[in-house]
Amino acid sequence: MNLPDLGALYSHHVRVLAQRADEALARGGFDHLVIPSGTLHYQMFDDRDYPYAVNPNFKAWLPLTKVPNSWLVYTPGKRPKVIFHQPFDYWHVVPDAPNGWWVEHFDIEIIRTPDQALALLPADAARCAILGEPQSTLGAFAPNNPEPVLAYLDWHRAVKTPYEIALMRQAQRLGVRGHRAAEAAFRAGASEFEIHMAYCSAVGQDANELPYGNIVGLNEHAAVLHYTDLGKTAPQPLRSFLIDAGASAFGYASDITRTYATTGHDEFQALIDSVDAAQQQMCAGVRAGVDYKQLHVDAHLSLMGILKDFGVLKVSPEAALATGVSAAFFPHGLGHLIGLQVHDVAGFAASDRGGRIERPQGHPYLRLTRTLEPGMVVTIEPGVYFIDMLLDEVKQCGHGDSIDWNRVDFFRPYGGVRIEDEVMCTEADADNLTRPAFAEA
Ligand code: GLY
Ligand code: MN
Ligand code: MN
Repeated sequence: MNLPDLGALYSHHVRVLAQRADEALARGGFDHLVIPSGTLHYQMFDDRDYPYAVNPNFKAWLPLTKVPNSWLVYTPGKRPKVIFHQPFDYWHVVPDAPNGWWVEHFDIEIIRTPDQALALLPADAARCAILGEPQSTLGAFAPNNPEPVLAYLDWHRAVKTPYEIALMRQAQRLGVRGHRAAEAAFRAGASEFEIHMAYCSAVGQDANELPYGNIVGLNEHAAVLHYTDLGKTAPQPLRSFLIDAGASAFGYASDITRTYATTGHDEFQALIDSVDAAQQQMCAGVRAGVDYKQLHVDAHLSLMGILKDFGVLKVSPEAALATGVSAAFFPHGLGHLIGLQVHDVAGFAASDRGGRIERPQGHPYLRLTRTLEPGMVVTIEPGVYFIDMLLDEVKQCGHGDSIDWNRVDFFRPYGGVRIEDEVMCTEADADNLTRPAFAEA
């Protein structure tokens, strides 16, 4: 798969991170930034380790996701240092010796045991901002996660460097390979489990490497927002398929959802097509200076317009929004920041000095309340679902008349529709990262 010249992009990326770190350390009053990669965690009363998840602050600097017990040390004005744990171990595959586009930017120290890092970390732990989890503590180097440092770094991490965008585009291409294979498996009558396996095989990543657990729902299962049960038998008859699945590229995530119908289910296909068209309109709304909260509220109105057209809703979109009926059909947020983490940090941050922008009332699951800036990447993932638990509440609240229940009965067996892309905010038009990957696949 073609990657652009990452060397040049990475050189710029490291400069940006160093500038951000300089300011973050100044704000916190620290001399060094120290970031452990994290350690393996073991199951209770067992010698089995959980899947290793690298510290996101570590992989922000380095395209390394499988080197536990390693450290990044940055001191303003100096070359950053990597303390790279490469144990002598004949039980496991050990990390490759450092190689790739990143090595020339770092002083690299190889250690063979975790505690050898102590001699290579800065002299005075008290002068260090140490970002990590408590389990990474080594001697006096206990993560302190200083608030002013994290507030600054997390806030600015929302704006991606061109290097990060290149890797996120790669994560799109990988994910789309999986989506194509998954659709083919669905059309061939595969079970949810088989579709999941087809996806993993096409992407070349298993559950430990994917950025989140695949959501693969057939028929009514499409209504379960985070359905991860993976049934072993395909239901009969097959009507619909919702897949929400991404991929990882050097630690960067994609998060993509598509919904399909089997042939002959024309009205549900038409609903998919309407949500898809509305989703593209919403993607086009990703512009610098736009309040994401407003996009979310506008999405409610747009989706309720569709449900009105399909005869499900009997009142105006505005009335459905005001009474909370719209939230029964669209019960999650329009989207979130994405990057090193599928739900990336600082979605509610008010500034790089902290503070929080609350969600609008009645929208408890929205994960992003910031104003969009060039370089931010967000998901746009509208959906409509037929979820009895939520529709029963509508009745109990006295708004049952807003809905044509025969139409709900008609659509319930399909579960629901969600369409999700990643979109980059630019100085001008929105840049949809996902659609071109489908177009070229
Ligand atoms: N796949 C989880 C989400 O879309 O946020
Ligand atoms: Mn998703
Ligand atoms: Mn998402």
